[in-house]
Amino acid sequence: MSDPSLTNSPTVAAYRARTKGSAALAERARGVFPSGLVHDARRLDPYPIYVERAAGPRKWDIDGNEYVDYYGGHGALLLGHCHPEVMKAVHQRLDLGTHFGACHELEIRWGELVRKLVPCAERVRFFSSGSEANMMALRLARGFTGRDKVVRFKGHFHGWQDHAAFGYDNHFDGTATPGLLTGIAESVLLAPPDDIEATCALLRAHADDIAVVMLEPTGGSFGVLPMGRDFVSRLREVTRELGILLMFDEVVTGFRVSPGGAQGHYGITPDLATFAKILAGGLPGGCVAGPKAILDLLDFDEMQRQGKEKIQHQGTFNANPVSAAAGIVTLEIIGGPTDPCARASRTAEQIRQGVNRVFGEEDVPWAAYGEHSAVYVYTNPDNRDIDPLAFDAYGESHDALKRSGKHRAANRFRLALLVHGVDMSGKPGGIVSATHGEAEVAQTVEAFRQACRMLKAEGELRRGAVSA
Ligand SMILES: Cc1ncc(COP(=O)(O)O)c(C=O)c1O
Repeated sequence: MSDPSLTNSPTVAAYRARTKGSAALAERARGVFPSGLVHDARRLDPYPIYVERAAGPRKWDIDGNEYVDYYGGHGALLLGHCHPEVMKAVHQRLDLGTHFGACHELEIRWGELVRKLVPCAERVRFFSSGSEANMMALRLARGFTGRDKVVRFKGHFHGWQDHAAFGYDNHFDGTATPGLLTGIAESVLLAPPDDIEATCALLRAHADDIAVVMLEPTGGSFGVLPMGRDFVSRLREVTRELGILLMFDEVVTGFRVSPGGAQGHYGITPDLATFAKILAGGLPGGCVAGPKAILDLLDFDEMQRQGKEKIQHQGTFNANPVSAAAGIVTLEIIGGPTDPCARASRTAEQIRQGVNRVFGEEDVPWAAYGEHSAVYVYTNPDNRDIDPLAFDAYGESHDALKRSGKHRAANRFRLALLVHGVDMSGKPGGIVSATHGEAEVAQTVEAFRQACRMLKAEGELRRGAVSA
């Protein structure tokens, strides 16, 4: 355990008592993987749960415990776990072969659906992940503009690739993290996500060198650090004026905030956008989308005609048929009449309201917030006297919102939620699917109430008691 105060915690004891199988697997994993993990975001002290199966909004761990799931496949599962139509398409496709090393019709249908749903998508190229899609988007932007610099926003997440590895969780001064070339870090300018005037000034000062501004269009970590439409709209104006490309990282927002992603929701069209997660219906996949003029940099004949060098692009699993099959069904449902994006957003709003009522009734100075299908918990790291029901994340400093996830009680709160059958990520918070319904809302709100009581019994969550 990295937090010694957890040693004698009754919450930890209750968690340990229910999750003996997970504890054993975590011990084994530590002999194989650094920290016993394959993804940093799955860290939980003293150990995470090990999951065996999932269906709809729920999953079951190795010990047979049932949870309402708020990881949602790291955001990939807007339609919930094991959606019957998606699973049927995947099973059928598996029996026909998983890799042909050849072109296939499904990749075209998949790309056509992206074109149909996404406003900026005149041309599309597939990858295996969001990180890869972002790598290509930057290469395209530099190739198209002939400029080197990339502007990113502090606290915005774009995967683990080199250009995005600093300034998200640390190194906000723009210096390189271990293993990174200093030159790459120097090619990135970090902008303040809560100050449009300072951002515009930065763009004007370096306009001739900047290829692209990239951002999570609803704010860092899918709105943990919220960024409203006005900010994005100003960004669109100033980038257009200065001849700088605007790139939306829609890896999470794509096909979630609306069928057309954040760009569809805002009515603001970027020059480039990247997608992953929901795009491939719960399997690996990513894509970059943009105008023909930019994606032509990948086109053999067009580049030859223009007398330019083509950007190369390979990738063993690009548009693999199984991901394509899952992605096609998923995008068809999302683009269809049932509007799962709106349903997930409505349910998330009910959960936020219910949790805030609980925080109010239990006199806990925390608040639930978030937009669209996100539910985040503000742990009030400076222990101000906040009213959960009146909480407005736009009024908080990004610094405090960022520190919220590092609050000492946050890990213990997650354990208490797990004990009561709810699995939330470390933001702390989670993402809601279109399969979450009334039963999940009620169970989640009640789990929050019980978790509050559990932590209060341990001396946490008191007003005026600073424990961050
Ligand atoms: C906004 C955003 N961009 C990019 C990525 C990276 O995608 P992947 O994990 O598929 O590489 C993520 C992953 O969580 C993300 O949330």
